[in-house]
Amino acid sequence: MEILEMNYINFRNLEDRNIQFSPRFNLFFGKNGQGKTSILEAIYFSATGKSFRTSKNIELIKYNKDKMGSYISYRDLISEKTLSVKIDRKQKEYKYNGKKTSFDEFYGKLNIITFIPEDIELIVGSPSFRRSFFDAEIAQSNYEYFKNLKDYNKILKIRNKYLKEKNIKNDIFPIYEDEFIKLAAKIILKRIEYVKNISIILNLNYRKLFDDKKELSLKYDSFIGEFKGMSLIDLEEKIKVIIKEFRYQELKYGYSMVGPQRDDFKFLLNEKEAKSYSSQGEKKSIIFSLKLSEIDMIIREKRETPIFLIDDISSYFDSIRKDNIINYLKRRELQVFISSTTDLNIESKNFKIDKGEIQDGHYECR
Ligand SMILES: Nc1ncnc2c1ncn2[C@@H]1O[C@H](COP(=O)(O)OP(=O)(O)OP(=O)(O)O)[C@@H](O)[C@H]1O
Ligand SMILES: [Mg+2]
Repeated sequence: MEILEMNYINFRNLEDRNIQFSPRFNLFFGKNGQGKTSILEAIYFSATGKSFRTSKNIELIKYNKDKMGSYISYRDLISEKTLSVKIDRKQKEYKYNGKKTSFDEFYGKLNIITFIPEDIELIVGSPSFRRSFFDAEIAQSNYEYFKNLKDYNKILKIRNKYLKEKNIKNDIFPIYEDEFIKLAAKIILKRIEYVKNISIILNLNYRKLFDDKKELSLKYDSFIGEFKGMSLIDLEEKIKVIIKEFRYQELKYGYSMVGPQRDDFKFLLNEKEAKSYSSQGEKKSIIFSLKLSEIDMIIREKRETPIFLIDDISSYFDSIRKDNIINYLKRRELQVFISSTTDLNIESKNFKIDKGEIQDGHYECR
C-alpha cells in the first residue's frame, strides 16, 4: 500500500495543508515540540480513525477550534481509494471513497504499523495494554476476529451484570454463557495461532537486525493452562470445565474470572522474560523486531504491504543499531514515514517542521 496524499484541517498544532508523499522514505525533520509526532499521528488517524497517543478525540482538535478533519488518498493492489474522518465536539464521521461508513467498515482498510517511544510499554506495561495491542493487530487483517472480539466484549458485560446480581438461575443465562464460551474459544485459538506464527518471524528479525546469538520468542499465557495441539472444540470443553470450577468465586466477586480478557503475552529472550531481565536497548530492539514481524504478518495474511511509521528514531537507538535498521528498511519495498531530530543519511522526501508548519521540496536535513 502507498499513501499518495493527505489533507488535514485543525489537527493539533499543524498548519492546515495538503501533502504529497514519496512512495518510499518520507522524513519529518525538526526540533523538539515542533509537530513531528503530530504529523505521524495525523497520518495514522486518517488511516485508522484512531490516534496512537490518545483515546480522547478532543485532544486532536487544534486549541480553540471545535472541528477537525483529515483526508487521505492511497493505493492498494487493486485501485486508488480515499478515507476521511471528521470530528467535532459531539460526533465523528467516517467516509470511505466519499461515502459515509461505520467505524467497523472503516477500520482495517489501510494497514499501518507504528513504532513509537511509548511502545516500550508492550514489554514493561500491563497485560491489558498487551491484549489491546495484539487484539488490534490481529483485527487489522482479520475481520472475523474483529467481530468476535466485539461480540465477546458485549456478552462479557452482560455476563458480568448477571454475576454481579447473582441472577444466574434464569433461562437466559445459560444461553449467554454458551455464546460466551464459543466466542472465548475462537478468540483464544486465533491468538494462539497468531503468536505461534509471529514468534518464528520475530526471532528471525531480531537475530538478523540486532543479535544473532540470542533467541527471542513470544508466548501466549492463558488461563486455560497448556493448550498445545488443542482444537476449537477442545478449547470450548476446557473453558466449560474451568467455568464450573470458578462458579462459586465468580458469584462471590461478581464478575467473569475466566476468559481471554485474563490472558497475557510474554516476550522471552533466551528463555528469560524480557520484562524482568532484558536491558533497555534489548527491549527497544525486541519491540522494533515485533513491528517488522507484524509487517510480515500483514503481507502474509492480506498480500498487501502496510505503511510503516517510525517516531523519533534518533532518540531510540545508538548509531550502529540505527544504521542496521535503515539499511534493512532500504532493502524492503515499504513506504516509510520517519520523524527525527537528526539527519539519517537516506534518500528520502524531506519535510521540515517548524511550529507546526511543514515545508517540503529541496530541504536538506542539516
Ligand atoms: N490540540 C492541540 N492544539 C494545538 N497544539 C497542540 C495540541 N496538542 C498538542 N499540541 C502542541 O503541539 C506541539 C507539537 O507536539 P509534537 O508532539 O508533535 O512535537 P514533536 O515535534 O514530536 O516534539 P518531540 O521532538 O519533543 O517529540 C507541542 O508543543 C504540543 O504542546
Ligand atoms: Mg515527538
